[in-house]
Amino acid sequence: MAKYAIKNVTVIGGGLMGSGIAQVTAQAGQNVTLVEVNADVLKKTEASIATSLARVAKKLYKDKPSDGEKFIAETRGRIKGSTDPVESVKQADLVVEAIIENIDIKHKLFKDLDAAAPPSTLFASNTSSLSIGEIASVTNRKDRFGGLHFFNPVPVMKLLEVIRTPETSEETYQAFMAWGKSIGKVCITCKDTPGFVVNRLLVPYMAEAVRMYERGDASARDIDTAMKLGAGYPMGPFELNDYVGLDTTNFILEGWHKKMPDNPLFEPLESMKKLVSEGKLGMKSGEGYYKYDKKK
Ligand SMILES: NC(=O)c1ccc[n+]([C@@H]2O[C@H](COP(=O)([O-])OP(=O)(O)OC[C@H]3O[C@@H](n4cnc5c(N)ncnc54)[C@H](O)[C@@H]3O)[C@@H](O)[C@H]2O)c1
Repeated sequence: MAKYAIKNVTVIGGGLMGSGIAQVTAQAGQNVTLVEVNADVLKKTEASIATSLARVAKKLYKDKPSDGEKFIAETRGRIKGSTDPVESVKQADLVVEAIIENIDIKHKLFKDLDAAAPPSTLFASNTSSLSIGEIASVTNRKDRFGGLHFFNPVPVMKLLEVIRTPETSEETYQAFMAWGKSIGKVCITCKDTPGFVVNRLLVPYMAEAVRMYERGDASARDIDTAMKLGAGYPMGPFELNDYVGLDTTNFILEGWHKKMPDNPLFEPLESMKKLVSEGKLGMKSGEGYYKYDKKK
């Protein structure tokens, strides 16, 4: 019944998200081609997947380390590295793009891929803040294009947001939902609207917390404690901001503010802009709203 059976997946971009997407896809028994800009970056990506897989194996095969090693070898064996995006999509049933968040670079990539991939290949972007329809607009397969929005860290977070543009066909949408399930994710559906479900709620919430702090209503630490102990959230908004990366949240807010200048929820934040300009991006740089021990 399924029009699109997905066995060969090409993941473009092997950073934080792409490496996780490649890993969970290979763990599910599918063949993955992972594309990066050069051999050095590819090597780093493969090393980070190996570290992550070792963590998974330790959990899954606590009592049988030899099975764990087999699991790691088999999963890694299903991931093939490539530095040639055009060549990498020729056998692909599905392409998931997870490169940097820049519309011009994504357009150039998808134009090239659209010309090289067979007509039956489905395309998806993992963008957090750009419009899926706008990304798809440069291709001739808008009906076979949608959003597959994963969460960080991909091997741990169960959710997959499946985004339909007005042009995404029913078959494509069904294939995305079935594929998400096949790699162990719980799928929800959302229209192609800014932030989809999770970020549309989370980003304004984090921004409101920063505005409270900027007004001096409460300290960052106290706002975090309040939301953890009073609302049952696992992390406070400042911990979450530092975890996500202040550059990322700032970039999303600025993009939405440009598109929707009248919405006060998307007003850029002075303290965040200042921290970003000083290179204080959160956990990854060792300092954001909090300071971190870099050795950890
Ligand atoms: N970080 C998150 O929490 C998160 C969550 C969901 C979605 N996203 C989205 O996922 C995408 C990737 O984000 P990330 O955090 O993994 O970024 P990242 O910077 O960690 O990784 C991007 C990777 O893409 C590679 N790349 C850039 N241009 C390329 C090209 N033309 N061909 C092949 N590889 C290329 C880079 O070398 C880099 O390794 C973005 O669109 C982002 O909005 C991020």
